Amino acid sequence: MSGQKKKQARQVKKFLMCQPEFYGIHYEINPWMDVSHQALNSRAQRQWQELHHLITGVLGQTVELIQPQPGLPDIVFTANAGLVFNNQVVLSNFRYKQRQGESPLFEAFFRDKGYKIFRLPSGTAFEGAGDALFCGENLFAGYIFRSEARCHSLLAEIVGKRVLSLELVDPRFYHLDTCFCPLADGSALYYPGAFDSYARRLLENYLTDGIVASREEALCFACNAIIAGRNVILGARCPKLAAQLDDRGYRVFELDLSEFMKAGGSAKCLTLEI
Ligand code: ARG
Repeated sequence: MSGQKKKQARQVKKFLMCQPEFYGIHYEINPWMDVSHQALNSRAQRQWQELHHLITGVLGQTVELIQPQPGLPDIVFTANAGLVFNNQVVLSNFRYKQRQGESPLFEAFFRDKGYKIFRLPSGTAFEGAGDALFCGENLFAGYIFRSEARCHSLLAEIVGKRVLSLELVDPRFYHLDTCFCPLADGSALYYPGAFDSYARRLLENYLTDGIVASREEALCFACNAIIAGRNVILGARCPKLAAQLDDRGYRVFELDLSEFMKAGGSAKCLTLEI
């Protein structure tokens, strides 16, 4: 393989996704969800297909699928399956019973693929890559709404990295990946208003470069972005953030994932890098 080809091969990422066949707003477990503000399933399917096509057909990344199941509408948010690193996974312990039925399906997926599986003590809430994201040499981990801080020392031991614990303060940004998104080389984009003051200080001190999203764009899930090399996928129009990313040499794609915002999610949470 030529050097150039090798470099390209290294850049291909593999994502786990799940088709929204049974997706809808069937319960309310975060402030975005309102069963009387229903998602239109046919439109959700179309939006999801566009995302899938962009990731695979346009950007040439790999996607693996997990089978959806009736009664588990939020399984489309595969980011919450667990925290994946080097063919290993720390499985999630979902906070709410409405999502706990997803766990055996995700576990079976990783077992079939030969991943080494770690489990946290039962009863310790942890929602995977929704709340734990590698950035530079550290693992940034959010807590309060869905994950508990007491799992952070266990995560540090399992992954062998320093864990920076970030307290989330705004229920609309209930998962870390709704307000924080790692970019290349220890930089990240984030929305400061979602964090307590100590967490904000950690972010200022530990990020090599912090791109700050406005409240308005953060509420459009600007920070819930998928990163593939220098490509960034957003689930809504975020012109201010797009301009900041463009200045730093990123190519920004803006899709419409409005049906998934009704469940409190967007681009990034519809994928899990595996
Ligand atoms: N309705 C889902 C929930 O409340 C949305 C999950 C979004 N996932 C994420 N990683 N932010 O659990």
